[in-house]
Amino acid sequence: MSQERSDTLVLFGATGDLAHKKIFPALYAMVAKGTLNEPVIGVAFDPWDIAKLQARARDGIVNAIGSIDEKIFARLATLLRYVSGDYRAPATFDKLKTALGSAQRPLHYLAVPPAMFEVVVQGLEQSGAAQGARLMVEKPFGHDLQSARWLNRVLHLVFDEKSIFRIDHYLGKEAIQNLLYFRFANSFLEPIWNRNFVESVQITMAEDFGVEGRGRFYDEVGCIRDVIENHLLNILLLLAMEPPVGRSADDLIDEKVQVLRAIRTLTRDDVVRGQFDGYLNEPGVAPNSPVETFAAVRFFVDTWRWQDVPFFIRAGKSLPVHATEVIVRLKRPPLDVFDPIKPGDCNHVRFRIDPQVAISIGARRKAPGDDMVGEQVELTALDDSKGDMPPYERLIGDAMNGNGQLFTRQDASELAWRIVGPVLGDTTPPAIYAPKTWGPTEAMTGFGPPNGWINPSK
Ligand code: BG6
Repeated sequence: MSQERSDTLVLFGATGDLAHKKIFPALYAMVAKGTLNEPVIGVAFDPWDIAKLQARARDGIVNAIGSIDEKIFARLATLLRYVSGDYRAPATFDKLKTALGSAQRPLHYLAVPPAMFEVVVQGLEQSGAAQGARLMVEKPFGHDLQSARWLNRVLHLVFDEKSIFRIDHYLGKEAIQNLLYFRFANSFLEPIWNRNFVESVQITMAEDFGVEGRGRFYDEVGCIRDVIENHLLNILLLLAMEPPVGRSADDLIDEKVQVLRAIRTLTRDDVVRGQFDGYLNEPGVAPNSPVETFAAVRFFVDTWRWQDVPFFIRAGKSLPVHATEVIVRLKRPPLDVFDPIKPGDCNHVRFRIDPQVAISIGARRKAPGDDMVGEQVELTALDDSKGDMPPYERLIGDAMNGNGQLFTRQDASELAWRIVGPVLGDTTPPAIYAPKTWGPTEAMTGFGPPNGWINPSK
Protein backbone atom coordinates (compact mmCIF):
# COMPACT_ATOMS: atom_id res chain seq x y z
CA MET A 1 0.00 0.00 0.00
CA SER A 2 1.53 3.31 -0.99
CA GLN A 3 1.64 6.32 1.33
CA GLU A 4 -0.65 8.29 -0.97
CA ARG A 5 -3.42 10.14 0.75
CA SER A 6 -6.85 8.56 0.87
CA ASP A 7 -9.20 10.18 -1.60
CA THR A 8 -12.50 9.49 0.24
CA LEU A 9 -13.44 8.98 3.87
CA VAL A 10 -16.18 6.41 4.49
CA LEU A 11 -17.68 6.67 7.95
CA PHE A 12 -19.54 3.59 9.15
CA GLY A 13 -21.70 4.45 12.15
CA ALA A 14 -22.36 7.96 10.81
CA THR A 15 -25.59 8.37 12.78
CA GLY A 16 -24.03 7.14 16.05
CA ASP A 17 -22.92 8.84 19.22
CA LEU A 18 -19.19 8.90 18.48
CA ALA A 19 -19.75 10.49 15.08
CA HIS A 20 -21.98 13.12 16.67
CA LYS A 21 -19.73 13.95 19.62
CA LYS A 22 -16.23 13.60 18.21
CA ILE A 23 -15.98 12.78 14.53
CA PHE A 24 -18.09 15.55 12.95
CA PRO A 25 -16.42 18.24 15.10
CA ALA A 26 -13.04 16.83 14.00
CA LEU A 27 -14.06 16.89 10.32
CA TYR A 28 -15.31 20.46 10.72
CA ALA A 29 -11.97 21.51 12.23
CA MET A 30 -10.13 19.82 9.35
CA VAL A 31 -12.26 21.63 6.78
CA ALA A 32 -11.62 24.90 8.60
CA LYS A 33 -7.85 24.35 8.33
CA GLY A 34 -8.10 23.18 4.74
CA THR A 35 -6.83 19.69 5.61
CA LEU A 36 -9.96 17.90 4.43
CA ASN A 37 -11.19 18.39 0.91
CA GLU A 38 -12.18 14.82 0.10
CA PRO A 39 -15.74 13.43 0.01
CA VAL A 40 -17.04 11.95 3.27
CA ILE A 41 -19.57 9.14 2.83
CA GLY A 42 -21.59 8.39 5.94
CA VAL A 43 -22.98 4.86 6.18
CA ALA A 44 -25.54 3.65 8.73
CA PHE A 45 -28.72 1.63 9.11
CA ASP A 46 -31.02 4.63 9.76
CA PRO A 47 -33.18 5.53 6.74
CA TRP A 48 -32.05 9.18 6.80
CA ASP A 49 -31.49 11.54 3.90
CA ILE A 50 -28.45 13.77 3.50
CA ALA A 51 -30.27 16.75 5.03
CA LYS A 52 -30.81 14.84 8.24
CA LEU A 53 -27.18 13.76 8.39
CA GLN A 54 -26.08 17.36 7.82
CA ALA A 55 -28.39 18.53 10.61
CA ARG A 56 -26.95 15.89 12.93
CA ALA A 57 -23.41 16.91 12.05
CA ARG A 58 -24.26 20.57 12.69
CA ASP A 59 -25.73 19.71 16.09
CA GLY A 60 -22.62 17.75 17.08
CA ILE A 61 -20.33 20.59 16.01
CA VAL A 62 -22.31 23.24 17.89
CA ASN A 63 -22.36 21.06 21.01
CA ALA A 64 -18.61 20.49 20.86
CA ILE A 65 -17.43 23.94 19.83
CA GLY A 66 -20.25 26.18 21.04
CA SER A 67 -20.71 27.96 17.69
CA ILE A 68 -20.45 27.33 13.98
CA ASP A 69 -19.03 29.28 11.04
CA GLU A 70 -21.60 28.89 8.28
CA LYS A 71 -19.07 29.18 5.47
CA ILE A 72 -16.95 26.38 6.90
CA PHE A 73 -19.98 24.24 7.61
CA ALA A 74 -21.24 24.76 4.06
CA ARG A 75 -17.90 23.41 2.77
CA LEU A 76 -18.23 20.35 5.00
CA ALA A 77 -21.86 19.87 3.98
CA THR A 78 -20.90 19.74 0.30
CA LEU A 79 -18.39 16.98 1.05
CA LEU A 80 -20.97 14.84 2.88
CA ARG A 81 -22.85 11.95 1.25
CA TYR A 82 -25.07 9.36 2.90
CA VAL A 83 -25.66 5.67 2.21
CA SER A 84 -28.26 3.96 4.37
CA GLY A 85 -28.67 0.23 4.70
CA ASP A 86 -28.19 -2.94 6.68
CA TYR A 87 -24.52 -3.93 7.04
CA ARG A 88 -25.56 -7.53 6.40
CA ALA A 89 -27.12 -6.74 3.03
CA PRO A 90 -24.84 -6.83 -0.05
CA ALA A 91 -27.03 -4.09 -1.58
CA THR A 92 -25.71 -1.61 1.04
CA PHE A 93 -22.17 -2.16 -0.15
CA ASP A 94 -23.19 -1.97 -3.81
CA LYS A 95 -24.68 1.46 -3.04
CA LEU A 96 -21.46 2.40 -1.29
CA LYS A 97 -19.40 1.24 -4.26
CA THR A 98 -21.49 3.46 -6.51
CA ALA A 99 -21.09 6.41 -4.12
CA LEU A 100 -17.31 5.86 -4.13
CA GLY A 101 -17.27 6.54 -7.86
CA SER A 102 -13.70 6.70 -9.08
CA ALA A 103 -12.10 6.74 -5.60
CA GLN A 104 -8.88 4.71 -5.62
CA ARG A 105 -7.81 4.74 -1.96
CA PRO A 106 -10.79 5.20 0.33
CA LEU A 107 -10.34 5.12 4.09
CA HIS A 108 -13.12 3.05 5.68
CA TYR A 109 -13.60 4.13 9.28
CA LEU A 110 -15.51 1.60 11.38
CA ALA A 111 -17.06 3.67 14.19
CA VAL A 112 -19.33 0.71 14.97
CA PRO A 113 -19.33 -1.99 17.68
CA PRO A 114 -16.60 -4.62 17.13
CA ALA A 115 -19.29 -7.29 16.68
CA MET A 116 -19.96 -5.63 13.30
CA PHE A 117 -16.32 -5.53 12.09
CA GLU A 118 -16.40 -8.91 10.38
CA VAL A 119 -19.60 -8.35 8.49
CA VAL A 120 -18.56 -4.88 7.31
CA VAL A 121 -15.13 -6.03 6.21
CA GLN A 122 -16.66 -8.91 4.26
CA GLY A 123 -19.20 -6.57 2.66
CA LEU A 124 -16.37 -4.26 1.63
CA GLU A 125 -14.47 -7.09 0.05
CA GLN A 126 -17.40 -8.63 -1.79
CA SER A 127 -18.46 -5.30 -3.28
CA GLY A 128 -14.94 -4.40 -4.36
CA ALA A 129 -14.93 -1.37 -2.03
CA ALA A 130 -11.93 -2.77 -0.14
CA GLN A 131 -9.75 -2.58 -3.25
CA GLY A 132 -6.80 -0.25 -2.59
CA ALA A 133 -8.48 0.92 0.62
CA ARG A 134 -7.39 1.55 4.20
CA LEU A 135 -9.33 0.52 7.28
CA MET A 136 -9.59 2.37 10.59
CA VAL A 137 -11.27 0.61 13.53
CA GLU A 138 -12.52 1.96 16.82
CA LYS A 139 -11.86 0.51 20.24
CA PRO A 140 -12.49 -1.84 21.97
CA PHE A 141 -10.34 -4.12 19.83
CA GLY A 142 -11.67 -7.44 21.12
CA HIS A 143 -12.43 -8.26 24.73
CA ASP A 144 -9.57 -10.67 25.42
CA LEU A 145 -6.54 -12.22 23.73
CA GLN A 146 -8.51 -14.83 21.87
CA SER A 147 -11.06 -12.38 20.42
CA ALA A 148 -8.32 -9.89 19.48
CA ARG A 149 -6.45 -12.64 17.62
CA TRP A 150 -9.65 -13.65 15.88
CA LEU A 151 -10.39 -10.04 14.90
CA ASN A 152 -6.89 -9.63 13.55
CA ARG A 153 -7.34 -12.75 11.43
CA VAL A 154 -10.69 -11.46 10.12
CA LEU A 155 -9.23 -8.06 9.17
CA HIS A 156 -6.12 -9.61 7.59
CA LEU A 157 -8.22 -11.72 5.26
CA VAL A 158 -9.02 -8.48 3.45
CA PHE A 159 -6.53 -5.77 4.52
CA ASP A 160 -2.78 -6.00 5.05
CA GLU A 161 -1.36 -4.76 8.34
CA LYS A 162 0.01 -1.52 6.85
CA SER A 163 -3.54 -0.61 5.76
CA ILE A 164 -5.11 -1.17 9.19
CA PHE A 165 -5.35 1.65 11.76
CA ARG A 166 -6.51 0.57 15.24
CA ILE A 167 -7.53 3.65 17.19
CA ASP A 168 -6.67 4.48 20.76
CA HIS A 169 -7.72 8.13 20.87
CA TYR A 170 -5.43 8.75 23.86
CA LEU A 171 -2.43 8.43 21.55
CA GLY A 172 -3.74 11.40 19.57
CA LYS A 173 -3.77 13.71 22.62
CA GLU A 174 -1.36 16.62 22.67
CA ALA A 175 -0.23 15.81 26.22
CA ILE A 176 0.62 12.23 25.31
CA GLN A 177 2.68 13.41 22.35
CA ASN A 178 4.36 15.83 24.70
CA LEU A 179 5.27 13.04 27.07
CA LEU A 180 7.17 11.29 24.32
CA TYR A 181 8.76 14.54 23.15
CA PHE A 182 9.77 15.62 26.66
CA ARG A 183 11.43 12.29 27.34
CA PHE A 184 13.48 12.10 24.18
CA ALA A 185 14.14 15.75 23.32
CA ASN A 186 15.85 16.47 26.66
CA SER A 187 19.00 14.92 28.03
CA PHE A 188 18.64 15.74 31.72
CA LEU A 189 16.07 13.01 32.36
CA GLU A 190 17.96 10.11 30.87
CA PRO A 191 20.54 9.58 33.68
CA ILE A 192 17.79 9.31 36.30
CA TRP A 193 15.09 7.58 34.24
CA ASN A 194 15.73 4.09 35.56
CA ARG A 195 15.58 1.77 38.56
CA ASN A 196 18.55 3.49 40.23
CA PHE A 197 16.65 6.73 40.75
CA VAL A 198 12.95 6.09 40.14
CA GLU A 199 11.11 4.74 43.17
CA SER A 200 7.74 4.21 41.50
CA VAL A 201 5.45 5.41 38.77
CA GLN A 202 1.75 6.10 39.26
CA ILE A 203 -0.81 6.92 36.62
CA THR A 204 -4.27 8.10 37.70
CA MET A 205 -7.25 8.60 35.43
CA ALA A 206 -10.08 9.97 37.54
CA GLU A 207 -13.52 10.77 36.19
CA ASP A 208 -16.02 12.61 38.38
CA PHE A 209 -19.02 11.25 36.48
CA GLY A 210 -20.62 7.81 36.23
CA VAL A 211 -21.38 5.77 33.13
CA GLU A 212 -23.49 8.54 31.56
CA GLY A 213 -26.16 6.44 29.91
CA ARG A 214 -23.59 3.92 28.61
CA GLY A 215 -24.56 1.31 31.21
CA ARG A 216 -25.14 -1.49 28.73
CA PHE A 217 -21.78 -0.98 27.01
CA TYR A 218 -19.90 -0.40 30.25
CA ASP A 219 -21.34 -3.47 31.95
CA GLU A 220 -19.83 -5.62 29.22
CA VAL A 221 -16.37 -4.15 29.60
CA GLY A 222 -15.63 -2.66 33.04
CA CYS A 223 -12.79 -0.34 33.95
CA ILE A 224 -9.84 -2.60 33.09
CA ARG A 225 -10.99 -3.22 29.52
CA ASP A 226 -12.42 0.27 29.03
CA VAL A 227 -9.38 2.39 29.83
CA ILE A 228 -6.54 0.43 31.49
CA GLU A 229 -5.77 -2.19 28.84
CA ASN A 230 -5.53 0.52 26.19
CA HIS A 231 -5.27 4.24 27.12
CA LEU A 232 -3.37 3.92 30.39
CA LEU A 233 -1.15 1.02 29.39
CA ASN A 234 -0.14 3.12 26.39
CA ILE A 235 0.95 5.89 28.75
CA LEU A 236 3.02 3.37 30.69
CA LEU A 237 4.71 2.28 27.45
CA LEU A 238 5.72 5.84 26.59
CA LEU A 239 7.19 6.26 30.07
CA ALA A 240 9.07 2.97 30.03
CA MET A 241 10.22 2.58 26.41
CA GLU A 242 13.75 3.00 25.09
CA PRO A 243 14.42 5.78 22.58
CA PRO A 244 13.30 4.79 19.10
CA VAL A 245 16.14 4.30 16.61
CA GLY A 246 14.38 6.33 13.93
CA ARG A 247 11.27 8.31 13.18
CA SER A 248 9.22 5.76 11.29
CA ALA A 249 6.00 4.39 12.72
CA ASP A 250 7.60 0.96 13.15
CA ASP A 251 10.65 2.38 14.93
CA LEU A 252 8.40 3.84 17.61
CA ILE A 253 6.01 0.91 17.84
CA ASP A 254 8.91 -1.60 17.99
CA GLU A 255 10.10 0.04 21.21
CA LYS A 256 6.63 -0.01 22.73
CA VAL A 257 6.29 -3.66 21.84
CA GLN A 258 9.58 -4.43 23.59
CA VAL A 259 8.07 -3.01 26.79
CA LEU A 260 4.83 -4.92 26.31
CA ARG A 261 6.86 -8.10 25.96
CA ALA A 262 8.66 -7.34 29.22
CA ILE A 263 5.58 -6.55 31.32
CA ARG A 264 4.72 -9.35 33.72
CA THR A 265 1.35 -11.00 33.18
CA LEU A 266 -0.95 -9.84 35.97
CA THR A 267 -2.26 -12.00 38.77
CA ARG A 268 -5.29 -11.26 40.94
CA ASP A 269 -2.94 -9.99 43.68
CA ASP A 270 -1.94 -7.14 41.38
CA VAL A 271 -5.44 -5.70 41.26
CA VAL A 272 -7.97 -4.00 43.53
CA ARG A 273 -11.43 -3.68 42.01
CA GLY A 274 -14.21 -1.37 43.15
CA GLN A 275 -17.74 -0.41 42.15
CA PHE A 276 -19.39 2.89 43.00
CA ASP A 277 -22.46 2.73 45.12
CA GLY A 278 -25.42 3.25 42.79
CA TYR A 279 -23.88 1.63 39.70
CA LEU A 280 -26.38 -1.24 39.90
CA ASN A 281 -29.24 1.23 39.42
CA GLU A 282 -27.84 2.54 36.12
CA PRO A 283 -29.97 1.65 33.08
CA GLY A 284 -28.51 -1.29 31.16
CA VAL A 285 -26.51 -2.67 34.12
CA ALA A 286 -27.22 -6.30 35.09
CA PRO A 287 -28.69 -6.99 38.54
CA ASN A 288 -25.83 -7.77 40.94
CA SER A 289 -23.30 -7.02 38.22
CA PRO A 290 -19.73 -7.83 39.36
CA VAL A 291 -18.26 -5.34 36.90
CA GLU A 292 -15.69 -2.91 38.29
CA THR A 293 -16.04 0.85 37.83
CA PHE A 294 -12.69 1.39 39.59
CA ALA A 295 -9.46 -0.53 39.39
CA ALA A 296 -5.97 -0.08 40.75
CA VAL A 297 -3.36 -2.29 39.12
CA ARG A 298 0.34 -2.96 39.78
CA PHE A 299 2.61 -3.69 36.83
CA PHE A 300 6.27 -4.69 36.65
CA VAL A 301 8.46 -4.23 33.61
CA ASP A 302 11.18 -6.88 33.64
CA THR A 303 14.01 -5.03 31.92
CA TRP A 304 17.44 -3.79 33.02
CA ARG A 305 16.02 -0.28 33.21
CA TRP A 306 12.92 -1.03 35.25
CA GLN A 307 13.37 -4.25 37.19
CA ASP A 308 11.51 -4.04 40.56
CA VAL A 309 10.13 -0.53 39.97
CA PRO A 310 6.36 -0.73 40.52
CA PHE A 311 4.15 0.97 37.95
CA PHE A 312 0.69 1.59 39.37
CA ILE A 313 -2.34 2.50 37.31
CA ARG A 314 -5.57 3.66 38.95
CA ALA A 315 -8.75 4.59 37.14
CA GLY A 316 -12.38 4.98 38.00
CA LYS A 317 -15.77 6.54 37.47
CA SER A 318 -17.45 8.71 40.12
CA LEU A 319 -14.18 9.80 41.70
CA PRO A 320 -13.74 13.25 43.28
CA VAL A 321 -12.18 15.01 40.25
CA HIS A 322 -11.83 14.74 36.50
CA ALA A 323 -8.12 14.50 35.83
CA THR A 324 -5.48 12.26 34.31
CA GLU A 325 -1.99 12.51 35.70
CA VAL A 326 1.35 10.67 35.89
CA ILE A 327 3.74 10.91 38.81
CA VAL A 328 7.25 9.53 38.43
CA ARG A 329 8.56 9.57 41.98
CA LEU A 330 12.28 9.59 42.56
CA LYS A 331 14.02 7.93 45.47
CA ARG A 332 14.68 10.03 48.56
CA PRO A 333 18.09 11.53 49.24
CA PRO A 334 20.16 9.02 51.23
CA LEU A 335 20.23 11.22 54.35
CA ASP A 336 18.10 14.03 55.74
CA VAL A 337 20.87 16.62 56.09
CA PHE A 338 18.53 19.35 57.29
CA ASP A 339 14.95 18.74 58.46
CA PRO A 340 13.35 15.30 58.26
CA ILE A 341 11.59 14.91 54.94
CA LYS A 342 8.15 13.34 55.11
CA PRO A 343 7.78 10.04 53.24
CA GLY A 344 6.63 10.78 49.73
CA ASP A 345 7.79 14.39 49.88
CA CYS A 346 10.83 14.69 47.68
CA ASN A 347 11.44 14.75 43.96
CA HIS A 348 9.00 13.81 41.26
CA VAL A 349 8.07 14.56 37.70
CA ARG A 350 4.38 15.16 37.17
CA PHE A 351 2.76 14.95 33.74
CA ARG A 352 -0.70 16.42 33.74
CA ILE A 353 -2.55 14.94 30.79
CA ASP A 354 -6.13 16.13 31.25
CA PRO A 355 -7.97 18.48 31.48
CA GLN A 356 -4.99 20.89 31.57
CA VAL A 357 -1.65 19.94 30.04
CA ALA A 358 1.37 20.53 32.25
CA ILE A 359 4.76 19.15 33.19
CA SER A 360 6.07 19.80 36.71
CA ILE A 361 9.19 19.00 38.64
CA GLY A 362 8.55 18.49 42.35
CA ALA A 363 11.40 19.57 44.60
CA ARG A 364 12.27 20.80 48.08
CA ARG A 365 13.52 24.26 48.86
CA LYS A 366 14.30 26.11 52.04
CA ALA A 367 11.27 27.76 53.57
CA PRO A 368 11.85 31.45 54.41
CA GLY A 369 13.00 31.98 57.99
CA ASP A 370 15.90 31.35 60.36
CA ASP A 371 15.82 27.58 60.38
CA MET A 372 17.06 25.20 57.72
CA VAL A 373 13.59 23.83 57.23
CA GLY A 374 12.25 23.03 53.82
CA GLU A 375 9.01 23.05 51.91
CA GLN A 376 7.74 21.20 48.88
CA VAL A 377 7.42 23.18 45.63
CA GLU A 378 6.72 22.45 42.00
CA LEU A 379 8.19 24.08 38.92
CA THR A 380 5.50 23.89 36.30
CA ALA A 381 5.35 24.41 32.56
CA LEU A 382 1.65 24.88 31.94
CA ASP A 383 0.17 24.72 28.48
CA ASP A 384 -3.04 26.70 28.03
CA SER A 385 -4.14 24.05 25.50
CA LYS A 386 -5.16 26.80 23.06
CA GLY A 387 -4.65 25.58 19.54
CA ASP A 388 -4.20 21.96 20.63
CA MET A 389 -5.34 19.59 17.94
CA PRO A 390 -8.11 17.31 19.27
CA PRO A 391 -7.23 13.61 19.04
CA TYR A 392 -9.81 12.65 16.43
CA GLU A 393 -8.68 15.39 14.09
CA ARG A 394 -5.07 14.24 14.35
CA LEU A 395 -5.89 10.55 14.01
CA ILE A 396 -8.27 10.83 11.06
CA GLY A 397 -5.72 13.01 9.26
CA ASP A 398 -2.91 10.54 10.00
CA ALA A 399 -4.94 7.55 8.82
CA MET A 400 -5.88 9.37 5.61
CA ASN A 401 -2.20 10.02 5.03
CA GLY A 402 -1.30 6.40 5.79
CA ASN A 403 0.76 7.35 8.86
CA GLY A 404 0.40 4.54 11.40
CA GLN A 405 2.63 5.94 14.16
CA LEU A 406 -0.21 6.74 16.57
CA PHE A 407 -2.13 3.52 16.00
CA THR A 408 -1.91 0.12 17.62
CA ARG A 409 -0.08 -2.52 15.61
CA GLN A 410 -1.28 -6.12 15.57
CA ASP A 411 1.43 -7.46 17.91
CA ALA A 412 0.77 -4.66 20.43
CA SER A 413 -2.99 -5.26 20.29
CA GLU A 414 -2.48 -8.88 21.29
CA LEU A 415 0.32 -8.41 23.83
CA ALA A 416 -1.76 -5.94 25.85
CA TRP A 417 -4.51 -8.54 26.24
CA ARG A 418 -1.93 -11.16 27.23
CA ILE A 419 -0.87 -8.96 30.16
CA VAL A 420 -4.34 -8.29 31.59
CA GLY A 421 -5.92 -11.63 30.60
CA PRO A 422 -5.84 -13.36 34.01
CA VAL A 423 -7.60 -10.48 35.79
CA LEU A 424 -10.48 -10.10 33.33
CA GLY A 425 -13.96 -11.42 33.96
CA ASP A 426 -13.55 -11.67 37.73
CA THR A 427 -17.02 -12.49 39.05
CA THR A 428 -16.25 -11.86 42.71
CA PRO A 429 -18.17 -8.77 43.81
CA PRO A 430 -15.92 -5.70 43.73
CA ALA A 431 -15.57 -3.58 46.88
CA ILE A 432 -18.18 -0.83 47.01
CA TYR A 433 -17.07 2.82 47.28
CA ALA A 434 -19.06 5.96 47.88
CA PRO A 435 -19.35 8.22 44.81
CA LYS A 436 -16.90 11.14 44.83
CA THR A 437 -14.31 9.25 46.87
CA TRP A 438 -10.95 7.78 45.81
CA GLY A 439 -12.20 4.21 45.48
CA PRO A 440 -12.80 1.51 48.09
CA THR A 441 -10.85 2.66 51.14
CA GLU A 442 -10.53 -0.65 52.95
CA ALA A 443 -9.66 -2.69 49.87
CA MET A 444 -7.06 -0.07 48.91
CA THR A 445 -5.37 -0.12 52.33
CA GLY A 446 -1.74 -1.06 51.79
CA PHE A 447 -2.15 -1.22 48.02
CA GLY A 448 -0.23 1.45 46.16
CA PRO A 449 3.19 2.87 45.42
CA PRO A 450 5.66 3.05 48.32
CA ASN A 451 4.91 6.30 50.19
CA GLY A 452 1.42 6.46 48.80
CA TRP A 453 -0.77 7.76 46.04
CA ILE A 454 -0.87 11.38 45.02
CA ASN A 455 -4.42 12.40 44.23
CA PRO A 456 -4.67 14.81 41.33
CA SER A 457 -6.36 18.10 42.07
CA LYS A 458 -9.07 19.64 39.92
C1 BG6 B 1 -13.19 6.13 26.42
C2 BG6 B 1 -13.90 5.34 27.48
O1 BG6 B 1 -12.39 5.31 25.61
O2 BG6 B 1 -12.38 7.11 27.03
C3 BG6 B 1 -14.70 6.23 28.40
O3 BG6 B 1 -14.76 4.39 26.86
C4 BG6 B 1 -13.83 7.34 28.95
O4 BG6 B 1 -15.28 5.49 29.46
C5 BG6 B 1 -13.10 8.05 27.81
O5 BG6 B 1 -14.65 8.25 29.66
C6 BG6 B 1 -12.12 9.08 28.33
O6 BG6 B 1 -11.55 9.77 27.25
P1 BG6 B 1 -11.43 11.34 27.28
O7 BG6 B 1 -10.58 11.67 26.12
O8 BG6 B 1 -12.82 11.86 27.16
O9 BG6 B 1 -10.82 11.67 28.59
